[in-house]
Amino acid sequence: MKKTKTQTLTQEKVPVSLELSAKDAVKAVSRGDVLVVIDVLRCCSTIVTALANGAKEVIPTKTIKEAQALHKKHPEFLLAGERKAIKPKGFDLGNSPLEFSSNIVKEKHVVLTTTSGTKAICLSKNARWVLIGAFFNAEAVAKTAFEIAEKETVGISFVLSGARGRFSLEDFMCAGAIVENIPADKIECSDAVLAASLTFQQSCRQLTKIIQRGSHARYLKDIGHEEDVKFCCQLNAYPVVPVYKAKSIVLLSLDEESTFS
Ligand code: MLT
Repeated sequence: MKKTKTQTLTQEKVPVSLELSAKDAVKAVSRGDVLVVIDVLRCCSTIVTALANGAKEVIPTKTIKEAQALHKKHPEFLLAGERKAIKPKGFDLGNSPLEFSSNIVKEKHVVLTTTSGTKAICLSKNARWVLIGAFFNAEAVAKTAFEIAEKETVGISFVLSGARGRFSLEDFMCAGAIVENIPADKIECSDAVLAASLTFQQSCRQLTKIIQRGSHARYLKDIGHEEDVKFCCQLNAYPVVPVYKAKSIVLLSLDEESTFS
């Protein structure tokens, strides 16, 4: 870091780091970074889809009990989520982004609990900025994360939700896809981020095919959700930026966006 003529602190380059599983969100929070939580299959893809299709907000919870309690208090909210990728008994929706079409979610509040994704998001709650990333919004989230990091002189951390504590290929490649949209000469990437970026560059022409080889994609196929995997591999299908603040995920408003430019 150096001092400019106007005595404001600027950083030469924005440091970009990566945490490999949901529980490590707290490490990223302690660095004071802008967090980008990623869960391609399927939590973050579902959140992006729900908000892009007009949901008012998505409220993530760590447990099924918390989600049910919230739903009891607000029966008009949609109760959504999964355990082992299957919709829990009594829930309105599962965790398939294809279920979150505008005729179902428009103007609705959605309570969502998933195994790893909502856990990573809830563990990020003490960060000043938590953005939700997927292939769907790689470019939009990259632009916003970089603008905030430059303006606030902080780094960017990707938090990969993974699958039940294990590394996920699709989340790693998505971090690479996001980094591709940030000017390379303005960031300083950790080795893990560089590896994600190289992996994405090598495989972006056959993204779906490669992601289908991952363990969670194979599991989803086995239980009948192969279409979700294909759907979640669409790059920049929804150019929106969901932000998690005060226990709720909403789309970044144009007002907030303009404060970064
Ligand atoms: C999770 O958060 O663990 C998931 O998104 C799993 C899934 O529903 O595929």
